[in-house]
Amino acid sequence: MQMDVNQNNRRNFLKASLTISAATLVKPAVAIASLSAAEDEFKIAVGPYLQTNFNNSITILWLTNKVAAGWVEFGEQADHLNQKAYGKADLGLMQANSKLNAVTLSNLKPGTKYYYKIVSKEIKDFQPYKLTYGELVSSNIEEFVNADLNKEEVSFLMMNDIHDRPESIPHLLNQVPDQKQDFIFFNGDIFDYQTDEKQIIEHMLQPCVTHFAKQTPFIYVRGNHETRGKFAREFSQYYMHVGHTAFTLGPVRFVILDTGEDKEDSHPVYAGIVNFDDYRIQQAEWLKTEIESKAFKKAPFRIVMMHIPPRFSGDAHGPKHCTELFEPLLNKGKVDLVLSGHTHRYMVHQPDKNLNHYPLIIGGGPKNGTRTITKVKADQNKIVVSMLDDSGKEVGTYTALRK
Ligand SMILES: [Fe+2]
Repeated sequence: MQMDVNQNNRRNFLKASLTISAATLVKPAVAIASLSAAEDEFKIAVGPYLQTNFNNSITILWLTNKVAAGWVEFGEQADHLNQKAYGKADLGLMQANSKLNAVTLSNLKPGTKYYYKIVSKEIKDFQPYKLTYGELVSSNIEEFVNADLNKEEVSFLMMNDIHDRPESIPHLLNQVPDQKQDFIFFNGDIFDYQTDEKQIIEHMLQPCVTHFAKQTPFIYVRGNHETRGKFAREFSQYYMHVGHTAFTLGPVRFVILDTGEDKEDSHPVYAGIVNFDDYRIQQAEWLKTEIESKAFKKAPFRIVMMHIPPRFSGDAHGPKHCTELFEPLLNKGKVDLVLSGHTHRYMVHQPDKNLNHYPLIIGGGPKNGTRTITKVKADQNKIVVSMLDDSGKEVGTYTALRK
């Protein structure tokens, strides 16, 4: 019964989120965190990991191994964490009695370094009128820089099609040594399909936390493989969002689309429980609004990220539907660059005045020798893309000048 309510809520939320400009989904209060509570010691299971849509706010997420109440202590000096933030209250209730935690810090100062730690207090017993707390745990003090929205230059890395090979994450990151990034972008198919929470932690969250996510936020959009498996309906709760969104950072308006599945909704493997045709139509409706927005129009550059490319990924139903729905809008919006994955073959497609009016860059993966990490840097005059393979060799480049 509870499941039905949750799914209903999620469906309603999804509907609502498509009508607003940025989907921010964190519903830990209803999340199904299935971490084993068998271990005696209360601890942080994974985290903290940062996610953001910029705009002077950042979301800090973590999981504990038992239900707890948690918060973030933060400030501008490492030895003086003078502010405290809690998970978003829902109908007057603070986020608690959950293993999942998501705390958003808002109204941050541009270009400012913040120090923070996460704190969780185990809830040992939850009686209607008497709650018993257990141990308190906290992380080390970590730091991040809140990006200045007006910065001159923005840089990020894209990884895609990791397909349950967590070792690829550090391996690819190591091809780009010591370069501070504004964010790391995961362009879908990080998993083969969703099985359980353990997979989400071990195959993505933990490698991210170990290698960058305590200091540098990641942004993630679902690929077609994340829609598969018995845990696909819980999966998004572990992230700030995994669907469509848009945000501005420095000279770039970023637009992220969720391209859904690649086969027909009626395909037997989906067993009649998906509706991606409607979903993609809603995405296109949202994109239509986005390309008419002031933020989109006034940005020096517009970069679109979507897992299934809007062209050049075969004749399956999903890719064809993406071409039909999205390509005319991307052309109309005069986007400067589209970044995708899905085909497993890295490729730089040049703009074509009869097809894609924009450069379309597709990252490779997931096998050794085909994996890529794509570096993107944009300033007021140009976007420079450099795609590296897993030996660090540059296998694709593109420079887009301001029109
Ligand atoms: Fe894919």
